[in-house]
Amino acid sequence: MISVESLTMKYGSFTALDKVSFQAKEKEIVGLLGPNGAGKTTAMRIITTYLHPSSGTVKIEDQDAIENPIEVRKLIGYLPETAPLYPDMMVDEYLRFVGEARELEGSKLAVRLKWVKEACGLGPVWKHTISELSKGYKQRTGLAQALIHDPKVLVLDEPTSGLDPLQVMGIRELIKELSKQKTIIFSTHILQEVEAVAHRIVIINEGKIVSQGTQKELESQVRGLGETSPYLNLEKIFIALLTKNKKSKKEPIQV
Ligand SMILES: Nc1ncnc2c1ncn2[C@@H]1O[C@H](COP(=O)(O)OP(=O)(O)OP(=O)(O)O)[C@@H](O)[C@H]1O
Ligand SMILES: [Mg+2]
Repeated sequence: MISVESLTMKYGSFTALDKVSFQAKEKEIVGLLGPNGAGKTTAMRIITTYLHPSSGTVKIEDQDAIENPIEVRKLIGYLPETAPLYPDMMVDEYLRFVGEARELEGSKLAVRLKWVKEACGLGPVWKHTISELSKGYKQRTGLAQALIHDPKVLVLDEPTSGLDPLQVMGIRELIKELSKQKTIIFSTHILQEVEAVAHRIVIINEGKIVSQGTQKELESQVRGLGETSPYLNLEKIFIALLTKNKKSKKEPIQV
């Protein structure tokens, strides 16, 4: 379970997140959507305890992320926007290193290494130096480090960025499979991805929550704004919700 309450993040005088609240319940996949600069990465960095918020609270399972960051880090697997790789290491060496840092050893570590190798499709590059990997394989290696300790909560910042369509499908299937046992929050700019895997959607823009709910719930909000198209895909819903305030600002003032 991830619970974010009234999260505010200021960089100097700039407010990157403004009283943002949302939840991901156990075994739920939540898709975080928003344009560039909306605050998605900032929210994920705070959830994963890499950034300290200006105010607000974050709870992971029953732990307070601000008071107990070390405990929370144990519960979370995090794939940041740029995968945290050591380019001079080989893939297997790197994942072994991350596994040991996560306090895995012996047969437990061996089982997990074998599992991430298969689940993330790393077989072909297992003994390759990371600096020589293609972007997609680097991303898969980043995903493998997030999964090595079998965390209960996964935070994935644009997990399919840089992957080819087949790999994208593979990662989507993996995310769906993982959600049988894990709570997952992921960000993306690929709306079909959210349609394909997310149970619930949180849309943020300019640091504020624009809307949240299931796709059906978001659709009925958009219908409530007067949208009459017979079929509303997530792209239409997303654009309608993001432009709703702008539209109303443009309307002539009634006197
Ligand atoms: N360290 C920082 N100092 C100042 N401003 C920052 C810092 N980090 C992020 N920002 C600003 O906060 C806002 C939110 O950034 P963030 O990276 O969270 O957006 P995002 O939704 O992840 O965007 P993208 O889709 O491009 O990844 C942006 O305006 C960004 O420039
Ligand atoms: Mg980002």
